[in-house]
Amino acid sequence: MKIAMIGTGYVGLVSGVCFSDFGHDVICVDKASDKVARLTQGEVPIYEPGLEAVLARNVAAGRLYFTTDLARAVDGADAVFIAVGTPTRRGDGHADLTHVMAAASEVAQALTGYAVVVTKSTVPVGTNRKVAQVVREANPEADFDVASNPEFLREGAAIDDFMKPDRVIVGVESDRARNVMSDIYRPLYLRDFPVVYTDLETAEMVKYAANAFLATKISFINEVAALCERVGADVKEVARGMGLDGRIGNKFLHAGPGYGGSCFPKDTSALARTGQEYGVPQRITETVIAVNDMTKRRMIDKVMNLCGGSVNGCKIAVLGVTFKPETDDMREAPSLTIVPALVGGGAQVCVVDPHGQREGEALLPGVTWMDDPYAAVEGADCLVILTEWNAFRALDLKRLATSMATPSMADLRNIYDPADALAAGFTAVETVGRAGTARPAESAEAAQ
Ligand SMILES: NC(=O)c1ccc[n+]([C@@H]2O[C@H](COP(=O)([O-])OP(=O)(O)OC[C@H]3O[C@@H](n4cnc5c(N)ncnc54)[C@H](O)[C@@H]3O)[C@@H](O)[C@H]2O)c1
Repeated sequence: MKIAMIGTGYVGLVSGVCFSDFGHDVICVDKASDKVARLTQGEVPIYEPGLEAVLARNVAAGRLYFTTDLARAVDGADAVFIAVGTPTRRGDGHADLTHVMAAASEVAQALTGYAVVVTKSTVPVGTNRKVAQVVREANPEADFDVASNPEFLREGAAIDDFMKPDRVIVGVESDRARNVMSDIYRPLYLRDFPVVYTDLETAEMVKYAANAFLATKISFINEVAALCERVGADVKEVARGMGLDGRIGNKFLHAGPGYGGSCFPKDTSALARTGQEYGVPQRITETVIAVNDMTKRRMIDKVMNLCGGSVNGCKIAVLGVTFKPETDDMREAPSLTIVPALVGGGAQVCVVDPHGQREGEALLPGVTWMDDPYAAVEGADCLVILTEWNAFRALDLKRLATSMATPSMADLRNIYDPADALAAGFTAVETVGRAGTARPAESAEAAQ
């Protein structure tokens, strides 16, 4: 099959590279010429483990190309995937479809024979029909079908997720389109990964319902964590006790500073917006969003408490700012709410993140970037763990505590046992929802 992939971001690039690894001929298009130039040299512009090697072997095999020339890529393609961004629209919280519709119109004008125009971007219900309309209007002669093929990969594990998906969802309306999609995904189907065919609206809804449900699990456990703190329970044990129930499962039950990233915040917001538009409010999703905002603010209070009520004049070391480990993606990361609040409160903030600096520099003004956690905590009043990179999981707590001015820790990912941290010399440890958390005397009194 010949595939054109429009957009070489996290989804488009991984999908294009993996489709070529299936044996298809893939041309990836991006309008960002610097990205295309780097890709053409075999350089991957994002941090995604394993991607560079798969890319290199498919370029070497002559199956994978990069270009800014959309018309060249679309010419003769059996399927054209649209994998451009759908960020939150300013003002009303809905998905901004500007890039999707612009791409659809460009694709329409470049179609030379029958092709399936596949939307891989996450788009609200009804969008694929609008894409069909845009293509028809831009090129009334075009011979095409549309298909909805939402993507479920996770950044940081994207190659594995694409190659071994829990399922592939395909919304189609004609046998012709279904046959093309089935040829594209045959390598997965042959390995027994379920490919589910459905209609356009259902496929679009599956993606939003799935993401909103996962975000719900996170907000749920974060709200339970706040209660655990008050009643003296340990949310880690609560989550384990819950997760052992096969009906619940143990995934997405890790209490933390709130969800972030390029998907959950914007997708929950868009689903809530769709519900309002259709007069069917999505109350649970709306609450999930509110709880997430509250959770991020609660984390700021924790650091403030550790610093005696105000961070003014305090030196704070922050470990991790990307929205999760194994990615350089900073979109909607909790750090973008928490760190500016600390800087705004008058703290001197040092940040360490294995891959966050390139993106983070512009987003987190006023912080000092460092490479080494031990150097960052020297003379600090508080250590804040915001992203659970492996590099931060086995630090020498004694060494950290010894070099700090006031050895206090806000472990907002619950990666250390508070008792171990106290034994190592930390005098106050905040976690998320764990019993046995030691607090400075002032805030312990305030909590009573
Ligand atoms: N990032 C994820 O983990 C993830 C997972 C599942 C689904 N999604 C969805 O996939 C879509 C893409 O997300 P992303 O994170 O890859 O976005 P991204 O912002 O990283 O990449 C989008 C790319 O598209 C390019 N682009 C935009 N308009 C173009 C055009 N007309 N022609 C050529 N290139 C164009 C941009 O230059 C950019 O490189 C979104 O709808 C997102 O919700 C993302």
